[in-house]
Amino acid sequence: MVHTQALAVAAAALLAALPVNAGLYPKSSKVIQLDSKNYDRLIAQSNYTSIVEFYAPWCGHCKNLQPAYEKAAANLQGLAKVAAIDCDEESNKPFCGQMGVQGFPTLKIVKPGKTPGRPIVEPYEGPRTAKGIVDAVIDKIPNLVKRVDDKTLEAWLAESNETAKAILFSDKGKTSALLKAIAIDFKGSINVAQIRNTDKEKASLELFGISKFPTLLLLPGGKEAEGIVYDGEMKKEPMVKFLTQAAEPNQDPAPAKVKVKSKSKDSKKASKAKAEFEASSKSQASKEGETGGPAATDETIVEEATESPQPEVEAEKPVVLPAPPIPILATEAELETECLGPRTGTCILALLPSSPDEVAAAAVGALSEIAHKHKQHARKLFPFYVLAEANAGYGKIKNALSLGSSIEVIAINGRRGWWKKLPGAADKVVEADVSEEAIENWVDAIRLGEGAKKKLPEGLIPEEPEEPVVGEEQAQEPIVAEDAKETETVTVEEVKVEETKVAEPHDEL
Ligand SMILES: *[C@@H]1O[C@H](CO)[C@@H](O)[C@H](O)[C@H]1NC(C)=O
Ligand SMILES: *[C@@H]1O[C@H](CO)[C@@H](O)[C@H](O)[C@H]1NC(C)=O
Repeated sequence: MVHTQALAVAAAALLAALPVNAGLYPKSSKVIQLDSKNYDRLIAQSNYTSIVEFYAPWCGHCKNLQPAYEKAAANLQGLAKVAAIDCDEESNKPFCGQMGVQGFPTLKIVKPGKTPGRPIVEPYEGPRTAKGIVDAVIDKIPNLVKRVDDKTLEAWLAESNETAKAILFSDKGKTSALLKAIAIDFKGSINVAQIRNTDKEKASLELFGISKFPTLLLLPGGKEAEGIVYDGEMKKEPMVKFLTQAAEPNQDPAPAKVKVKSKSKDSKKASKAKAEFEASSKSQASKEGETGGPAATDETIVEEATESPQPEVEAEKPVVLPAPPIPILATEAELETECLGPRTGTCILALLPSSPDEVAAAAVGALSEIAHKHKQHARKLFPFYVLAEANAGYGKIKNALSLGSSIEVIAINGRRGWWKKLPGAADKVVEADVSEEAIENWVDAIRLGEGAKKKLPEGLIPEEPEEPVVGEEQAQEPIVAEDAKETETVTVEEVKVEETKVAEPHDEL
C-alpha cells in the first residue's frame, strides 16, 4: 500500500478548513449548553417547551445552522428554551444514542407531557432558519391560558376561588406566546385567563371597568373585588414582577434543594417572594448560562424572526494536523485480500479516477478524517481504502457495479455479498455531497445496518468451494448481526434504547 503525495496535499488543504473540535456555542451564547447530566433538570423537568439541537462540532450543517439557532434563542428568550448538546463529547454519546440521534444536526422539540419529567419529544424537520424554528417552537408552547367570556367568567372565578388570578383583556383573538409563558411561570399559583374585547363580552369588561386594550388585571386573592390593574409595558419581565405581588413564579430549573415556597396571598410574603424571584433569576442566569429577564413581546417575535443571513465562512485558522490519508490498494491481489474475498468483511472504497478533481479530493479528505477520528478514539471501524484507476480491480468493480467515471465511494462486503454506494457522488445531475458530515452519516447508517443494500453480481467475488452458498433470503438478514459482531462496542445504555436496535452497532453517532 502506498500513499500518494497529491492526495496527502489535497486532504491537508481540505482539513485546514476544518475548525478545531470544540463546542459550537460559547459560554456567552443564549443557547443553553446541555450535557447528558443536566438534560433532565433543565429540559425534561421544565414546564416550558424546549428545542434541543444535537450536534457535532465538526459538522458543516451544524455550523451553518449556528447563526440562525442563536437568533432563534434570542427571539424565544423567556418563551421557550433553546438548547444544544455536543454529541461528539464522549460523555454525551450514550445519551445522544438514547435520543435516537443518527445524524447531525438533529433538532427535537421537547414539550411537557402529562406526567412531570416525562416530556413529549418530537423531531423538528422544518426549515433551518430562525423563523422556522421560532414558529415551530411557539406552536408547541403549552397553553395554560383559559379563554373566558361573559358566560364562563363567573364559573372561572368561582373554581379554585382562593387561587390568585390574572386576566388579560385583549383585542387579539389568539393567545400570545407571551401570555402563555407567563401562565407557565405561575403554573400552580396564578390562574391566567384571556378575555377578548368583543361585543359579546361587554358584561365582563363592565364588571372590571376595562376600556383600554390590552389590560392586565391581577386578582391576588382570586376574587373579583380585588382587581389591580397593571400599567406598565406589555413585556414579560415587568409583567412577571407585577404578578409577584400575588405569588412567586416557579423557578426553572427547579432548585436542587427543597425550598419553602410562599403560597401566601398576603402582600408581605408576596414582596418577599418578589425579592427572592429577582435574586433567583439572577443567580439562575449566571449558573445555567440562561439570561433571565425575558423581554420579548409577541409582536417583536414575529418581526424579528426573519430569515437568518448566510453563515459566514469560518475565519479562524485552526491548528489541526491533517489526518493521515487512507491507504491505497495498489494491486488487484491486495484488493481481493482486503475487500473482495469470499471472507472479507465490510470495506469502504473510494474509487479514484486517474485525474482526481476537487470533489474527489474532498471525498478522500473526508474519509481520511473520519478514519483518523475513529482511530484516535480507538474505535473499531471497517477499513477505508482508495482504489485508484491504475489498479486492475478498479475497472472490474466499475463495470460489474455500473459505476460512473468520476469519484465513487462504495461499501462492499464480500462475505455477505452486498454493496452500496454513497448517494449522489457520481450523479452529475445531483450535487454530490462529499462533505465529511454526509459521508460520516452514510458510514454510520452502514454501521447501524440501515438502508438498502444491493446484492453483489455473480463473479465479482471469487468463490470458495468448501463454503455452502448462502441463500438469498438468508443473505439479507444476518448482515446486521454479522456486522454487529465485527464493529460492536455497544454500551449498556445504548442497548436499552429501542428494542429494534438491540443487535445493531451504535457506538458512535
Ligand atoms: C370558595 O369555595 C369553597 C368550596 O369550593 C366554598 O366553600 C367557599 O364558600 C367559596 N368562597 C367564596 C368566597 O366564594
Ligand atoms: C412546574 O409547575 C408546577 C406546578 O404545576 C410547579 O410546582 C413546578 O415548580 C414547576 N416546575 C418548574 C421547573 O418550573
